[in-house]
Amino acid sequence: AGAAAGAGALVGVAGGVGAERAGAIPGAPARPDDAGVNGGRVVPFYGPRQAAVTARPGAFASFVALDLARGVGRERLAAWMKLITDDAARLTQGLPALADVEPELAATPAGLTITVGFGGGFVERARGERPTWLRPLPAFSIDRLEEAWSDGDVLFIVTADEPGTVAHALRMLLKDSRAFATLRWRQDGFRRAYGSDPSGRTMRNLFGQVDGSANPRPGAPDFDAAVIAGDEAPAWLRGGTSFVLRRIAMDLDGWDQVDRVGRENAVGRTLDTGAPLTGGNERDPLDLDAKGANGLPVISSVAHARRAHVADPALRIVRFGYNYEEPPAPGSTALSSTGLLFGAWQADVDRQFVPLQRALDEADLLNVWTTPIGSAVFAIPPGCARGGYLGEALLGV
Ligand code: HEM
Repeated sequence: AGAAAGAGALVGVAGGVGAERAGAIPGAPARPDDAGVNGGRVVPFYGPRQAAVTARPGAFASFVALDLARGVGRERLAAWMKLITDDAARLTQGLPALADVEPELAATPAGLTITVGFGGGFVERARGERPTWLRPLPAFSIDRLEEAWSDGDVLFIVTADEPGTVAHALRMLLKDSRAFATLRWRQDGFRRAYGSDPSGRTMRNLFGQVDGSANPRPGAPDFDAAVIAGDEAPAWLRGGTSFVLRRIAMDLDGWDQVDRVGRENAVGRTLDTGAPLTGGNERDPLDLDAKGANGLPVISSVAHARRAHVADPALRIVRFGYNYEEPPAPGSTALSSTGLLFGAWQADVDRQFVPLQRALDEADLLNVWTTPIGSAVFAIPPGCARGGYLGEALLGV
């Protein structure tokens, strides 16, 4: 009933939603102040891309997958997406969602982004067909997948520099989803907290590695070539992308046994700056032909960065990783359950992600200490303009 009331109200307000105004919150600064306070920072909601694809990743993220309720057809999927779009348009601008009973929690967006993805089940329900890659990935020998972290019909990615903001936004989205779907899984992750590092520095994962150095950067020509779905994609996805989320457990107790030389060889980069072992700075290319005094390659033939390197910019992926760190499973002797929420954007999963994951499955030193335990694939529709809604080209009649 709440969702229906929201949908009714939506019609009346669709034109007046939060807007791209920076600093929509009275009294809150639009940019970090001299002390670095950034609670008022807003990321535009409307635009050709959904925010998480191109915005600076917030310090905290929740990835949530839902399963569609039985009998929810295309029209109701569209009503749901209108509701979610309205929530996202408001909350990301620091404004309460409709019927928000904790409106004060909305007033600190702290760079909030809300991004929506569609699993194969959603697209089938809407269209009766799906892109061939929109299904579970093929099995890899390294996988130890658990259903608790895998698959799903709809994905919400909520990021911000303030965890209370993420919690509130997610609760609003889930309340407005009750009539349409049930929660399947939720995975929370973090990067460096806002203000702890100069902005723009590459994050570190919990192995202590600089992680993300070789990523194409939004705005660079190679980014769009790798990420944005073009004419070969179904019309409803053009301008959008796809997202693979792998939950990868990291064996910190095993990693503890490895010395620094071994750790650096496992990736092919130094631990202090993340620079290639062949020299230069973090962002310099790896010299994969360089040989050491012993005649062997400086970057091992099974080093992670070599095995993961893809020469053709159009076939690369863009990584979007978050650390997770949770209590150990009951009965486990490990000190923690630690890993990486390994997210990847790419225009086409089968052309880009699958061959790369296959290469790493065949040989990669990091496999000794890492185990994929969750896996899910989603289509990420393009962003929308004011008055439109996410998924409109898929769901619109
Ligand atoms: C817990 C698991 C993983 C860890 C700890 C990890 C860590 C790293 C590190 C430290 C680097 C070097 C710095 C950088 O360029 O970011 C790197 C590079 C890379 N990784 Fe991973 N990674 C993991 C899993 C994966 C997976 C599953 C894939 C893809 C299926 C992947 C794809 C890549 C790519 C494409 C690069 C850049 C290679 C290049 O230099 O061109 N990684 N990773």
